[in-house]
Amino acid sequence: PCDKRDFMTTNQTWNPEAYARNAGFVAQLGEPLIDLLAPQPGERVLDLGCGDGVLTEKLATAGCIVVGVDGSPEQVAAARAKGLDARVADGHNLPFDGEFDAVFSNAALHWMREPDRVIAAVARALKPGGRFVGEMGGAGNIASVWAALVDTLARRGIDAAAFNPWYFPTAEEYHARLEAGGFVVKSITLFPRPTTLPGDISGWLETFGGTFLSPMDAATRAQIIDELRETLRPALLTPEGVWVVDYVRLRFSASR
Ligand code: BEZ
Repeated sequence: PCDKRDFMTTNQTWNPEAYARNAGFVAQLGEPLIDLLAPQPGERVLDLGCGDGVLTEKLATAGCIVVGVDGSPEQVAAARAKGLDARVADGHNLPFDGEFDAVFSNAALHWMREPDRVIAAVARALKPGGRFVGEMGGAGNIASVWAALVDTLARRGIDAAAFNPWYFPTAEEYHARLEAGGFVVKSITLFPRPTTLPGDISGWLETFGGTFLSPMDAATRAQIIDELRETLRPALLTPEGVWVVDYVRLRFSASR
């Protein structure tokens, strides 16, 4: 039912319809990051990891000339359907040189496992003096979900850490990486942001846990989601029946 070799070849994929249903809160909670960016009309802004373009659209509404990039062709198609300039690109290897006043990134950098390459690609994409404003999962993010995943998969002989798709740095680590990449850091903060889900934890696991769940057949996947749900219930389900996940955010503003 699940062979650990499968995890090496199967990546997270995105279904825009399920994403909008299970993860609409991601863009909603990213709105304060737009305030930190303080976009000016006429600025050229790159939205790195634009997903389905909900925040990209807000930047366009603020008067920016925005390009969105994302690794997922499905999400890029959803962003284009909103009339946005969105392209498929890898954050480790951006096809831009000195073009943008700002690079903005919400809830995407933690999917990019080689941060120094990403920071170098962002620096290259910016004009001199350009700013890099982002928010991502930071150290301790979704710790309870991660612990449950590790235990549940270990019972099946699978080492989740070997397939970890996420990078959740401390503020000190990311600060040092930004400086080494030629940025001056204006602010960088790690803060807990317990996050209320719009529905059941199973929808969250199906949407975000694809790296681990998509290699499995449907029956095994359902069984694992059930086990995870039971393990997480005492910590994450409130007496009112609402799931609240232990998100931790790392938010920063830097300039070249
Ligand atoms: C997040 O912090 O936004 C996140 C990280 C991993 C999986 C899902 C969401």
